[in-house]
Amino acid sequence: MSEPITKQSVIANYLPTVVAPVADHIDAVFAPSNIALCKYWGKRDVELNLPINSSLSISLAHLGSNTAISVSDEDQVWLNGQRVAADDKFARKVIAFIELFRGPNGLPVKVDTQNNIPTAAGLASSASGFAALMLAIDGFYGLQLEPALLSAFARMGSGSASRSLYQGFVEWQMGVQEDGMDSIALPLANRWDSLRIGLVKVNIAEKAVDSRSGMNRTVATAHLYQSWPLQAAADLERLHQAIADNNFTLLGETAEQNALSMHATMIAAWPPLLYWQPDSVAAMQTIWQARAAGVEVYFTMDAGPNIKLLFTADSEAAVKQYFPDLDVIAPFG
Ligand code: DP6
Repeated sequence: MSEPITKQSVIANYLPTVVAPVADHIDAVFAPSNIALCKYWGKRDVELNLPINSSLSISLAHLGSNTAISVSDEDQVWLNGQRVAADDKFARKVIAFIELFRGPNGLPVKVDTQNNIPTAAGLASSASGFAALMLAIDGFYGLQLEPALLSAFARMGSGSASRSLYQGFVEWQMGVQEDGMDSIALPLANRWDSLRIGLVKVNIAEKAVDSRSGMNRTVATAHLYQSWPLQAAADLERLHQAIADNNFTLLGETAEQNALSMHATMIAAWPPLLYWQPDSVAAMQTIWQARAAGVEVYFTMDAGPNIKLLFTADSEAAVKQYFPDLDVIAPFG
């Protein structure tokens, strides 16, 4: 029987024999957060974070993570200016990821991450976090990895991080290879300057069930999940069409139906997973009311209670009548 494929065994094929820092520190590198319009939900390989379906996202411009690495006398992880306890889940994940490159006995490091988005609130900070960490590792150890490798390795930290290496629209192709090296994200050339994303913050507290456990539970227990890969494949096609034609109605309808289909599979899991809070539902009702009144606004939602609005610049004033405290992002600057 062949050995099971591990992250370590895949990455080792692409590293020099000796991985050591090329400087005592590197300045912070940035990776944007991203929001999927066609979601990644379900893994065909849990070790390598290989998805069951391809996904497509939009990056959030200046919102994301800045990560620096420096030589230190012991491993330490800092998040938003505060040292994180070494046995904390976040710190362990960060150090385990670095060990994939420097090995378990490599020189200790200090990792310093600043997120300008709320951590673990369904705003995908693990995506920008692992993408920025991957870029920082690449610089700190002078690896000079190609973009496809950076995306594949960031994916091993967190699936959605594969897409956070790029700005704009990004497609993560699921790939078919067993080692996952064709499961990488690629940027789309298309811009959509008038596209806007609005963040409706329902609750920025840490969520109870993270996306990783949520999707694994859904795949394992929800019969409804069977329909998901078909839905995702059809939605991906529609999104490509919408982007090529600048058809905002098609983009918004597809993204909203995709998100609700994903949530339907979670609700059908056991124990059930419902990330919605009363305010999430209230926001959905408001969006549907606004649409009925002629304002073209749609939403998407990840594994958390927050709602992300999709609209175009010409409707911004009208959308703000319904959501006065909205944070608005122009993904194409
Ligand atoms: C609902 O990328 O956080 O946001 O690969 O286990 O780290 P892991 O999961 P993660 O899942 C993101 C799920 C999602 C949809 C998406 O961003 O595509």
